[in-house]
Amino acid sequence: MENNRQNMADIEREIPVSEPERQYYFIGRAKEALRKMEEAAGRQLSFCVTTFGCQMNARDSEKLTGILEQIGYIEEPDEEEADFVIYNTCTVRENANQRVYGRLGQLGRIKKKNPHMMIALCGCMMQEPEVVEKLKKSYRFIDLIFGTHNIYKFAELLATRMESGRMVIDIWKDTDKIVEDLPSERKYSFKSGVNIMFGCNNFCSYCIVPYVRGRERSREPRAIIREIERLVADGVTEVMLLGQNVNSYGKTLEEPMTFAQLLQEIEKIDGLRRIRFMTSHPKDLSDELIEVMGQSGKICKHLHLPVQSGSTRILDKMNRRYTKEHYLELVRKIRKAVPDISLTTDIIVGFPGETEDDFQETLDVVRQVRYDSAFTFIYSKRTGTPAAAMEDQVPEDVVKDRFNRLLDEVQKISAEICAVHEGSVQTVLVEMKNDHDHSLMTGRMSNNLLVHFPGEESLIGKYVDVRLDECRGFYYIGEITENNR
Ligand code: SAH
Ligand code: SF4
Ligand code: F3S
Repeated sequence: MENNRQNMADIEREIPVSEPERQYYFIGRAKEALRKMEEAAGRQLSFCVTTFGCQMNARDSEKLTGILEQIGYIEEPDEEEADFVIYNTCTVRENANQRVYGRLGQLGRIKKKNPHMMIALCGCMMQEPEVVEKLKKSYRFIDLIFGTHNIYKFAELLATRMESGRMVIDIWKDTDKIVEDLPSERKYSFKSGVNIMFGCNNFCSYCIVPYVRGRERSREPRAIIREIERLVADGVTEVMLLGQNVNSYGKTLEEPMTFAQLLQEIEKIDGLRRIRFMTSHPKDLSDELIEVMGQSGKICKHLHLPVQSGSTRILDKMNRRYTKEHYLELVRKIRKAVPDISLTTDIIVGFPGETEDDFQETLDVVRQVRYDSAFTFIYSKRTGTPAAAMEDQVPEDVVKDRFNRLLDEVQKISAEICAVHEGSVQTVLVEMKNDHDHSLMTGRMSNNLLVHFPGEESLIGKYVDVRLDECRGFYYIGEITENNR
């Protein structure tokens, strides 16, 4: 009772103008609206956040989850059972969009049977006007649509939808704002993503991200450090620093700071054991960063360095602003500074105008670098990007054939590299129970490879030494060593 009166008082006070106070105020209002909905339903209502796309989206989903939990919804892992379903979408390739439409059709049918159900859509796909038009026309059952720039307003938008009962759509073209200190609920208790920057200014000619995520903005170093210190106090020992191009961190700050300097500050945080980051753009990977990685005791021995193509001619058309030789030189330098580093990459096959010779250059880079693993993508035409208007789009059968040849090469090399560590003892952070065999636990090494080994659930979140007994292509089967017992 006392609590309720407190809430009412909060609700009746004037609406705060500044953030994040305004959103905490709307969390209070949504709480009240949820209470009424639960009274009508005669039960507690649940939510499910489904995430498509990259680690940025995964981190955004943790923020959505944090807000929904504060409002009082309970989490339901099965989307078909939940009363509030939110899709955090990706549009980097066309097949990501198709997946969303397919699943939405199914959700619409479920909603017909559940009068308390609400559906929300957010994320990168919503920044495309054609998508929102299509949803407005053909998917009238959606309750709430918002974009990437106003995700911090989720509580306010949801409260508005709950109170009005009408479809709410709010999409912004861009923003220069960063809102700090909103709630968030981590998927793992012991590791967390941390945004260090938002948006992208690179405009690689095939890529839609700069259009849907807006201009590059770096967070203030103090805000980043404070967030990590709080995470560490809450049990986190590994962070993944997130940005579309972390190597250009800090350039737009009032007091500019390099990514290498930021890393050195983060390294000083007591209790933090591992630092990872994603993604590095080769054109901005500095000697300073390579040096810091070589000296660091906490930065993990893994670098994801997307090459996209091995052909300097195609790289130029992609607007990547480096050459094949420059890329190979970077690889040489980083291997010299950090000899046992694991290198991974992204490769696009079938960019407009790609010839067999260009493709051979890509294979050549793959053979020279010998990546621990590579994500390979078939070029997908994104409306509005410069590449979409280029002539010489490569025929589908040619692209498929190149894609398969690339995949064979990449997989053959990964398996060979993986086998190199067989028999060695590695410190791993134990992440979870194995999905298929519950007597096994899964741990992650500094170089990002996984090992499965017999162990107890109580090990989750701890660091243990594991002997890598057997390599199975991309992962190991191992055994905890004596000194952990
Ligand atoms: N900012 C990161 C990548 C973000 S998108 C970077 O620059 O490395 C992740 C990957 O998706 C890219 O590295 C690229 O390989 C792939 N990708 C992006 N746009 C694509 C498109 N139109 N078609 C196919 N793959 C694409
Ligand atoms: Fe896209 Fe290039 Fe920006 Fe990466 S750096 S998000 S590939 S435009
Ligand atoms: Fe996709 Fe957006 Fe990430 S388009 S890859 S979710 S930034």
